[in-house]
Amino acid sequence: MTDTSIRAVALEGGFGVDRLTLTRRERIAPGPRQARVRLHAASLNRRDLLLVEGVYNPRQALPIVPGSDGAGVVEAVGSGCRRVKVGDRVVVHFFPGWIAGEPTAEKLATGLGGPGGDGVLREAMTIDEDALVAIPAEMSFETAATLPCAALTAWSAIVELGRVRPGDTVVTQGTGGVSIFALQVAKMCGARVIATTSSPAKAERLHALGADHVIDYRAEPDWGRAARNLADGRIDLIVEVGGAGTLESSLRAIRPGGCIALIGVLSGAKAAVTLTLAVMRQVRLQGVTCGDREQLEAMLRAVAANGIDPAISHTFALEEARAAFETMRAERHVGKIVVTI
Ligand SMILES: NC(=O)c1ccc[n+]([C@@H]2O[C@H](COP(=O)([O-])OP(=O)(O)OC[C@H]3O[C@@H](n4cnc5c(N)ncnc54)[C@H](OP(=O)(O)O)[C@@H]3O)[C@@H](O)[C@H]2O)c1
Repeated sequence: MTDTSIRAVALEGGFGVDRLTLTRRERIAPGPRQARVRLHAASLNRRDLLLVEGVYNPRQALPIVPGSDGAGVVEAVGSGCRRVKVGDRVVVHFFPGWIAGEPTAEKLATGLGGPGGDGVLREAMTIDEDALVAIPAEMSFETAATLPCAALTAWSAIVELGRVRPGDTVVTQGTGGVSIFALQVAKMCGARVIATTSSPAKAERLHALGADHVIDYRAEPDWGRAARNLADGRIDLIVEVGGAGTLESSLRAIRPGGCIALIGVLSGAKAAVTLTLAVMRQVRLQGVTCGDREQLEAMLRAVAANGIDPAISHTFALEEARAAFETMRAERHVGKIVVTI
């Protein structure tokens, strides 16, 4: 490798996991208030798979380096940097342009590995220092790389927007990155967690990670009623990642005045649902899209202070990126899929 180029995984020539190619990118010198990060680990989110498959944005310009979640070491800084210095261990924020405050169209157009440009499946990236957050001393790069998208989304749903309190009952759906972290954060907040999943083997993992009750939604298609019965009718928050196929059940299961955190659309994005279940019962339908950098910092403090250990399911090397994406597509994982760089 020459000093002017780095290895990267890029989507070239069309959509599809089989179009992911190990290629080279320029090593870019940081400009004013920018830093170059030598990336050591990344993690995949469902969004990355959807982007690669051309579903997330069929008009996405190619080539693009996918991936939003990365962690590494600052190896160079431009003039005027105040937040970071060479040698700092950092994690990259999902929305480099959303530092704090209300979301706006401009802030939400900065997501890495998508509308905001090339992502983290590469050896180094040059980025505004404002998008970087220090990693707690005892945290590995692999663990830090699990946090920016799925975990911050779960944190926003449970803590920032959901305002879960001790004694509340939270329902999580499935064993993906968002849901497993939501389980861990909800337990940290003192909530009771009812988790759903598709298989007995994954149910065992959920119990080991602290779920109070697990419902196999294949064996029990009316999982919403089963959850409501387990909660004596009082489900305070549902982490809704299923979308079209689960929203009606969530609306029937949530208590009056409860909150459905609308996060994912795994079973479809267009739903015909009974709106009176929300209207007449004052249910809050709360869209969640990741969070801002200050919330990422707050979450990192909470993870460190409470010893939360994000669940890493599989680890692949950069050159095995296709296998990492295929593992996600086959839903073999529980928690996060990490790529070491
Ligand atoms: N709005 C945001 O900011 C944001 C951020 C991150 C993710 N998301 C979205 O949230 C969803 C989950 O993302 P992720 O990264 O956690 O995905 P992931 O890691 O790929 O999780 C997929 C898992 O979800 C479960 N699942 C699949 N279909 C389901 C269904 N119909 N009902 C219930 N569970 C189902 C399966 O687990 P089991 O086999 O255990 O059921 C599957 O393994 C995606 O739609 C993603 O786009 C949104």
